[in-house]
Amino acid sequence: MIERLFKKFCGNKILVVIAKAAAMVVPPLGRLKKYRNILASSYSIGFQQTIVKNNPIRVLIAPISICNYKCLFCEIHKDNLLYPDRTKNVVDLSIIKNYESFLSFCYKLNFSGGTEEPLLNKHFGEIAKYLKQKYGIRMMVNTNASMLKRNLADTLINCGFDSVLVSYHAGSKEKYKELMTGNIDVVDENLKYLKEQKELKNATRPVIKFNFALHKLNADEYPFILQKAKLLGVTEVIINKYYGGRNRLQDKRVSFDYDIDEGNRVLDDIYSSAKNDDINLSPPRPQYWTKDKSNWDSENFNASKKCPLPWTDYTFLKH
Ligand SMILES: C[S@@+](CC[C@H](N)C(=O)[O-])C[C@H]1O[C@@H](n2cnc3c(N)ncnc32)[C@H](O)[C@@H]1O
Ligand code: SF4
Repeated sequence: MIERLFKKFCGNKILVVIAKAAAMVVPPLGRLKKYRNILASSYSIGFQQTIVKNNPIRVLIAPISICNYKCLFCEIHKDNLLYPDRTKNVVDLSIIKNYESFLSFCYKLNFSGGTEEPLLNKHFGEIAKYLKQKYGIRMMVNTNASMLKRNLADTLINCGFDSVLVSYHAGSKEKYKELMTGNIDVVDENLKYLKEQKELKNATRPVIKFNFALHKLNADEYPFILQKAKLLGVTEVIINKYYGGRNRLQDKRVSFDYDIDEGNRVLDDIYSSAKNDDINLSPPRPQYWTKDKSNWDSENFNASKKCPLPWTDYTFLKH
């Protein structure tokens, strides 16, 4: 919602000129830095400047480079094969302080990316607390939630951490074990505690969302996933699509790209079931599979198309 408003704002030349002037009078101090940066970046975006004067408004950091799961659909298998002895690359508070020159300007920080489990990083709570208290950065983490233990849940609630996106690609114990290789009871227990503590403390954050990437092997799981979403106080279930990759399913043609009609029927079932149970889905309406060629298809590629947007995001991944 905020992102959509910002995009609209950036499309209005008069508003972005005013924003740039306003940025010049906002002092670059403490939490004000990020608002100054947003105002300045709206001008860079609005006028499609290729060289931007602002700092990144969104940053993505993978705070570690290992995972405790081996989900069949994930490229972790490729990474484990190519880089079996990779370093853990643990980001701690001293590294975060070293990044402060741009983090202090950042509006939104995502702890995600790559094939890793952010909450295996034992400094996670300390980092979240520091960045929230000092800069009030909006933060989100994409996690399997197996390590979202009580201490960490308490810290995230107390510091006002914004959003936890839980990978939840199966809802039954057996299918979860088969596809995600972990124990769903541990995850559910962690989320239950988080929900209870939020209620006790009258806290609205962190909001919990589920990420459900649909394919042929987990299509039957949606009733369990929706049921768990309701039980565990999940605000939104994101209906995604399995995107393939170099993983354990790569030769199995599990994507509904190979059976569009069946995929769209499952999508209809999911959306009607969620409507009956009053569960929010994102996107709010089904994004159907179509027979159209994607715009990155080599035969359908527009080579003269230029990206009109300046650099606004910064990504920190490593191996
Ligand atoms: C690679 S994970 C990293 C974060 C964390 N370990 C987790 O699973 O949430 C980033 C997101 O991509 C999803 N993902 C991984 N492989 C996928 C695939 N082939 N298709 C669709 N989503 C996938 C994961 O479930 C997760 O939500
Ligand atoms: S999807 Fe996430 S939890 Fe599963 S193996 Fe990949 S990085 Fe680990």
